[in-house]
Amino acid sequence: MSTESFKAILEKTQRVEGMTTPFSIAVIDALLSFQKKQKITGHILEFGVYKGKSAILLREHLGINESLVLVDIEKYIDDSTLQLLGPETKFILGASKDLKISAINFESLIKKIRFLHIDSSHAYRTTIDELRLTESVLSPDGILCMDDFTNLNYSQILPALYKYLYTEKTDLTVFLVTNEKAYLCRRAYFDLYANYVLREIVAEVAQSAHQPMAIARTDMDIEYAAFYLRPKLEDESSEFYGKNIYGDMYINASPRDMLFAIPRKFKWRLFSS
Ligand SMILES: C[S@@+](CC[C@H](N)C(=O)[O-])C[C@H]1O[C@@H](n2cnc3c(N)ncnc32)[C@H](O)[C@@H]1O
Repeated sequence: MSTESFKAILEKTQRVEGMTTPFSIAVIDALLSFQKKQKITGHILEFGVYKGKSAILLREHLGINESLVLVDIEKYIDDSTLQLLGPETKFILGASKDLKISAINFESLIKKIRFLHIDSSHAYRTTIDELRLTESVLSPDGILCMDDFTNLNYSQILPALYKYLYTEKTDLTVFLVTNEKAYLCRRAYFDLYANYVLREIVAEVAQSAHQPMAIARTDMDIEYAAFYLRPKLEDESSEFYGKNIYGDMYINASPRDMLFAIPRKFKWRLFSS
């Protein structure tokens, strides 16, 4: 997405009161633009709409034959905003966990959602329910974006996510975290998205957010190898955190590639708990 188009999107989102920050708008915009470049298609779903700030951003990225499905337990969004979002946008009044019954045609959403934004109550049980639902609707190459992942006012999100990831049958994995959100994909697509984060997202978000960015990865395990994206600190010389110590973490995006690159005798460390 060009800087000019991003500026126009940002301005549109700023006309509506809401919680999604310009930084997260830039990150989501970058990821949705990357999906477009990769020809990844599908519908977009949001749990927790409020007045429609993030929905405006999501709507901007809809392609041909794609719909935006918005779910909220309250109708805070104005009819004028819904009208602006166009006929491709469907608003469903109801709790996220009831989507299977409240969506007119739930079957058409199964494995067809390429981007899901979870930004609802952030309650522990609701988050687990939403993750279970993600499993059935997220497309094989889709992204799940979880809001307030590191906001400790909602500290229950962290245990809910990791209980789900490590105790239930799932192929979801985290590929990116920020100070605001966690981004997950299915394991088979980790390499694609992690490669994009490693090689491109820093420059793209820096350009949209008008702020230098950096990424950090200080461990790379076959079970967890996500990157952290954040504004670059004033005294940081590299856009890779701790490059002199953790340089190996920034050579390959995938922990599997690292397994082939390192001497055999060290491989056991990647699997040790
Ligand atoms: C933080 S706001 C969403 C902010 C919005 N995404 C934005 O960019 O401004 C949370 C929204 O979640 C809704 N909500 C709370 N519990 C919910 C649930 N169980 N299912 C669906 N929506 C829910 C609230 O009504 C509220 O509108």
